[in-house]
Order: sequence, then C-alpha cells, then structure tokens
Amino acid sequence: MSDKSEPTLIQGHEYDGIQEYDNPTPGWWHLVFLVSILFSFFYFIMSFGSPFFVGPYEQLAAAQEAEYARMFAGIGELENDEHTILTLMDNEKWVAIASGTFRGNCVSCHGAEGGGQVGPNLCDDSYKNVRTVTDIYEVITNGAANGAMPAWGNRFSHNELVLLASYVASLRGTSPAGTIRGPEGDAIPAWPDVRADAPPAGAGGQ
Ligand code: HEC
Repeated sequence: MSDKSEPTLIQGHEYDGIQEYDNPTPGWWHLVFLVSILFSFFYFIMSFGSPFFVGPYEQLAAAQEAEYARMFAGIGELENDEHTILTLMDNEKWVAIASGTFRGNCVSCHGAEGGGQVGPNLCDDSYKNVRTVTDIYEVITNGAANGAMPAWGNRFSHNELVLLASYVASLRGTSPAGTIRGPEGDAIPAWPDVRADAPPAGAGGQ
C-alpha cells in the first residue's frame, strides 16, 4: 500500500500482509562497525609488531626461566663429572624431578622404566655409546645414531641435562617389569664408587 508521501520506502514485497520497509541501519551502527575495524588494525600491530607486547610464548619462557632459577638456586651450575652424577642419584628431590623429565620425554623410546623399546635398555650393564658415566650426558645432549637418539641439548637447561644423566645412571642395575630389549653394545665396568669421598652434589638445594 504505497502512498504518495513515502513512494520509495516500501519495497514492494509482501508476505501475509507484512510489507518490507526500507529501513537503513542507523548511523551509530555504522560508526561502531568502522571503529571496530580500525581497532582491529591497531590491535594487530600492537600484538605482533610492538616491543611492549608479551605473548603467551614469551610469558611461558619467562615463567620457565624463573622456575629454573628457583629450582636450581641452591645448587648453582652442576658439573658433568663422576662425583656430581653419581651422588645426585642419592638425592630424592632431584631424582624425582629428573624422573619426571624422563617420563615426559624418553619413555616413548626407552620404555616406561628404561627397559628399552625403540631405544636400548638403559637398565642393564651394556651400552652402545657409553664407556664412562660422564658419556651419558654427552649422548643425551648430542644424540646418537644420526638422530635415532635425538639431541636434547637445546631442549633442556644444562642442569636438567646433568640431572637426566644422573637419573639414567641410576637406572643401571634395576630390573623393570616391562623389559623388552636385551643387552646391546658392550658390557662396561660398574660405576666407580665415589659416594664416600665427599658430600653429595646438590645437598645445598634441599
Ligand atoms: C625417538 C626415540 C628416542 C627418544 C625419544 C630418546 N631416545 Fe635415547 N636412544 C634412542 C636410540 C635409538 C638409542 C641408540 C642409539 C644408537 O644405536 O647408538 C638411544 C640411546 C640412548 C642412550 C645411550 C644408550 C647406549 O646404550 O649407548 C642414552 C643414555 C639415552 N638414549 C638417553 C635418553 C634420554 C635421557 C632420553 C630423554 C631425554 C632419550 N634417550 C630419548 C632413541 C630415543
């Protein structure tokens, strides 16, 4: 029912007596729309181009660093030497931390308790790449067999690598239930007995 005063506003569609009226979106709506587009542009620049923006990855890295600093505050920089590796094995707190790292990263190849799976059994007396207890750290850090054993040097802090090496050394002589692989490589002499010589490494970190 177009009348003369509004000749163009009625669109001419009619359904069940309801007609379509040309009702433009209000000006404030357009304004909000445009402002949100402009805002997204600045937000994008701020998020990805701004030195002041701290993303979730940076936050995670910073938190991890602070956590390492807290964890290792008592022991300083650990050395990869016989005495450190072998006495850390007796420190329940550090063994717990290292076994968590092992469970999270190594069990897929070395078995739940180190009994071997894709990678060799770490619980027996035979090793492919290890002759002395300090070699363990080198294998973990640099990997072996062209990456079949991945290099973990970039994944963990130096102290974590030493703790992992100590944990792996402590697996020797255990007999895990799910042992899959027999001895590989050469049998090597027992770890030296250094425990009586001096106080355990990491004792200050209790
Ligand atoms: C992708 C599978 C894989 C993962 C994950 C893995 N390893 Fe290995 N690892 C291997 C293989 C395969 C070898 C044997 C390399 C060779 O044949 O020389 C090996 C060897 C080793 C050795 C030397 C054993 C020997 O007999 O010489 C140590 C120690 C070791 N791994 C520790 C670790 C630790 C600690 C982790 C976790 C941080 C880990 N591995 C994670 C596959 C893996």
